[in-house]
Amino acid sequence: MPQTTNYILEDILKARRDTRHFTTELVPDEVLQRALQAGHLAPSVGLTDATRYFIIKSPEVKQEIKNLFWKYNQKAANQIQEEEQKKAYAALKLEAIVDAPLGLVVCYDRSVLNNFTIGTVASNDTLKFSAVCAVQNIWLSLTEQGYSMGWVSILDYYQFKKILGLPEEMEPLGYFCVGKPATDYDKQPMLQQQGWKQKSATPLVTEIDTCLKTSLATFGIPQPKSAQPESLTHKLQHIIDNKTKPLGALGELEVLAKQIGQVFNTTTPVLKKPHIIVFAADHGIAQHGVSAYSPEVTSQMVKNFVTGGAAINIFCKQHGLAITIVDAGVNYDFTPNLPIINQKMGRGTQSFLNGPAMTLDQVHTCLQKGAAVVNSIFQQGSNTIGFGEMGIGNTSAASVLMSLLGQVPIEQCIGKGTGVAEEKLLRKQQILQQAISNYSGEADIYEVMAYFGGFEILQMAGAMLEAYQNNMLILVDGFISSVAFLCAFKINPVVKQNAVFCHQSEEAGHQLLLSLLNAKPLLQLGMRLGEGTGCAVAFPLLQSAVAFLNEMASFETAGVSTRT
Ligand SMILES: Cc1cc2nc3c(=O)[nH]c(=O)nc-3n(C[C@H](O)[C@H](O)[C@H](O)COP(=O)(O)O)c2cc1C
Repeated sequence: MPQTTNYILEDILKARRDTRHFTTELVPDEVLQRALQAGHLAPSVGLTDATRYFIIKSPEVKQEIKNLFWKYNQKAANQIQEEEQKKAYAALKLEAIVDAPLGLVVCYDRSVLNNFTIGTVASNDTLKFSAVCAVQNIWLSLTEQGYSMGWVSILDYYQFKKILGLPEEMEPLGYFCVGKPATDYDKQPMLQQQGWKQKSATPLVTEIDTCLKTSLATFGIPQPKSAQPESLTHKLQHIIDNKTKPLGALGELEVLAKQIGQVFNTTTPVLKKPHIIVFAADHGIAQHGVSAYSPEVTSQMVKNFVTGGAAINIFCKQHGLAITIVDAGVNYDFTPNLPIINQKMGRGTQSFLNGPAMTLDQVHTCLQKGAAVVNSIFQQGSNTIGFGEMGIGNTSAASVLMSLLGQVPIEQCIGKGTGVAEEKLLRKQQILQQAISNYSGEADIYEVMAYFGGFEILQMAGAMLEAYQNNMLILVDGFISSVAFLCAFKINPVVKQNAVFCHQSEEAGHQLLLSLLNAKPLLQLGMRLGEGTGCAVAFPLLQSAVAFLNEMASFETAGVSTRT
């Protein structure tokens, strides 16, 4: 006889609803305590116990959070193209922040990563997953007790943390509205009841019974091209020296003009369709509090690039530069209709504190993907390309790469990045020092890049190597871009022939790196922003160099006497 089972759990699972319509009835303390205890019973990776709860009853706090929701929801609404869908979206109630009697903020505390934590070595996201398990337990417990909850995730999490005064290491999953449900939405998800979307009838399951064999991708290392004919170098120098000016009087512009002529293999160079590529990615090391900003800022800034509000957008517009944004590995899934080239290698690298940031295979794929994007820009007729980046935590990756590839003590490679305070700087130093001492790998460049690299840094390196291959002028931005260049240079030093170092950043270590590379930057404006801004603001100097070379009169044409 089969045992009869009373499926109480199944009933609760079915009855659980994301609720946005509540009665005004208060939530008794016992109900909340029971629900939170249920959350506490949830599993957590390596028993980290990193989930934290904050309770909100204050109408003022609720109103502030509601304002945040409105701002972001407006953004969401603006992404909808179709009028009918826009109307249907506007009609949906997607939160009950002010109306629900109680607010709950569920967070995970990523400072637990500062100590060895079982199960986080493959992905720091397991901390977040653990907190989600707690959320589901709370949801089910509230349902069992006749209450419910609504998950609000449409928020600017950076501002959200600021408003609530949450410490930097505390990462909220969202705002949860808690109360007594005023409806059961006809026993189905509200979005289904409202005709927005139909839930699939059954779970989508696929069996995988074979393994694909992976092979290490290879990256074609650029070969040095046949040496520039001596005659071109002499011709360029002769033209420059015979312009109507004292010998060498245009200083660095003369060096630049000669270099541009050599790169384009002509005495009459033209800067064609100049372009800036901004590579963006996240870094596992950022979870250890090495930056002044939280990791979410990477994706937020990428959205800012797309809407044209960042510094690089303004300078590109000012100087007529095209801009391409590449998602090399941001910890966020951008909507596909955005003008972002998707070259995602993952949702950020792994933290390199206790293990490698990526695999060797990923290093090679990064180099190839970086090359591919440059190649497509080259095919569109560009011969001048600047390299910028965005990635919270990337000064840490760059500092270690510089230290190991440039054989410089790490202290000389560490700077304040986005502006970390003294105390944090010390912490950054300790973490990076610890990461280096944990590294037992080879001094091999590919091993070092795999262990400490960033997806955007390595895609940039591959992109620079490809730009060399296509006889393009390579504009190197600040510290991170220069470290990407260092990687490219270590793979093949010929790449330097095409490189113009646009700006020496404020980041300590950049000056040292440029001197290691024997490179002279065009500008030194105290900038430390990245994004390719140094390339964009230096661009008019390239135009001046080309202009004087092509247009300035020579002693012969102007009938001016040369120096006696
Ligand atoms: C991670 C997560 C974030 C969510 N964010 C929101 C939100 O911001 N606003 C909202 O109305 N619903 C939000 N929801 C609720 C879902 O839309 C809802 O769970 C789904 O439609 C299924 O409905 P049900 O929970 O009633 O089965 C979220 C749910 C999850 C799991």
